[in-house]
Amino acid sequence: MQTSRSFYIETYGCQMNMADTEIVLSIMHGAGFIRTETLSSADIVLINTCAVRDNAEQRITGRLGDFNHYKKTNPNVIVGVIGCMAERVRKELMELGDFIDLVIGPDEYRKLPVLIEAADGGEKGIAVKLSRVEKYDDIIPFRTDGLSAWISIMRGCDKFCAYCVVPFTRGRERSRSLASIVSEVEDLSHRGFKEATLLGQNVNSYSDGTFNFADLLVKVADVDKKMRIRFMTSHPQDMSDKLIDTIASRNNICNYIHLPVQSGSDRILELMNRTYTRNQYLNLINRIKKVIPNISLTTDVISGFPTETEDDHKKTLDLLHEVEFDGAYTFKYSPRENTKAWQMGDDVPEDIKNRRLGEIIDLQRNISLRRNKTMIGDTVEVLVEGLSKKSVNEFCGRTNTNKMVVFPKNGDAIGDYIGIRIERVNSATLFGTKTGHSLPQFAILTT
Ligand code: 5AD
Ligand code: SF4
Repeated sequence: MQTSRSFYIETYGCQMNMADTEIVLSIMHGAGFIRTETLSSADIVLINTCAVRDNAEQRITGRLGDFNHYKKTNPNVIVGVIGCMAERVRKELMELGDFIDLVIGPDEYRKLPVLIEAADGGEKGIAVKLSRVEKYDDIIPFRTDGLSAWISIMRGCDKFCAYCVVPFTRGRERSRSLASIVSEVEDLSHRGFKEATLLGQNVNSYSDGTFNFADLLVKVADVDKKMRIRFMTSHPQDMSDKLIDTIASRNNICNYIHLPVQSGSDRILELMNRTYTRNQYLNLINRIKKVIPNISLTTDVISGFPTETEDDHKKTLDLLHEVEFDGAYTFKYSPRENTKAWQMGDDVPEDIKNRRLGEIIDLQRNISLRRNKTMIGDTVEVLVEGLSKKSVNEFCGRTNTNKMVVFPKNGDAIGDYIGIRIERVNSATLFGTKTGHSLPQFAILTT
């Protein structure tokens, strides 16, 4: 009776959440529910939420208003808030209004079908226990066929950076078994996927018995040499020499590392509990650049952490100059309850936070542009991913180093690896045309 009911799901936040939604899809399909892409035809509405910054939560709260409205005209609809915000503000959500039937944290997705059934009987369902063991290892994420897949290799985080709510919303760190990850990659390869991104809050601390992250990378990369392997996020403290050597050792492990620095000031890094100094970070960057000369690096930066002075901020700008990242994700500090930084107050005024953030963004944009300009005239290997955003006559795809490239369509198919000669660039995108023939330097084409 209930088995043909439809559910609608929206996902907010990071790639881990996207990967979690695929697990939720699998659980829901397994229980007989059918996914719908339109809210207006849904019997069950789920929202997979993010709690990392206040603006994410505000957007989600706004969206919940729409769901409330939908439920007013469809009173039998079940509304479920799942994920990090469900974990963090469960009580407030339950109090927000009668329209929310389910509040389910990231480690309790298996309970969805049971709680939906209970909600049909008028019971509110709340399941927010964090687990030390739940890895959803036995659940095959539901993915439609395509080019790129996210693979969550671990859950939670033990780092407890002073500003970060993740250890409280996603719990303690747990790694999936190496065998289950490798078998997932094998399946993806058989299905024609061309790229897998291994995901975790801190993939560098992956551990399964005697296997560490470098071991996992090798095993995964050797499944299919034509499949690009990416990973994120790396924590500087756990980035071993063995891992750097491993990235260099396989052509299909992409030359791209996302290595959040957060600040260039030792004083702030210490307050943030990041466990490395500016110098240690810079030394690590130098080691990486030496071993993998073609590496592309991106980072995360927070502006306006409590007590941040103009001098601290200048040190961050200075570090960006020195490293020359290919890109940076930049955030204004957002106080999160329960974190260590919550007690430090939020003393950097909004206008100063904004100004500093603007300076960081401007500087990084110039650096990205400069880095991209050095590629003009190069021929790069691109995986054709789909139509460009601007024209049906153009394709786009990425380089091994994760740079977006736009080029005229020229008889190629999505999923092909082709050589593109770069002709012009901006800070975010490279533009070029196909070279007449494939070149032997192409790593993946020739191995
Ligand atoms: N305020 C601002 N940025 C944050 N991040 C995490 N927590 C906060 C916060 N409270 C940023 C960090 C992290 C990225 C995923 O989000 O830069 O690396
Ligand atoms: Fe948060 Fe730090 Fe863990 Fe990243 S490493 S998820 S910033 S606590």
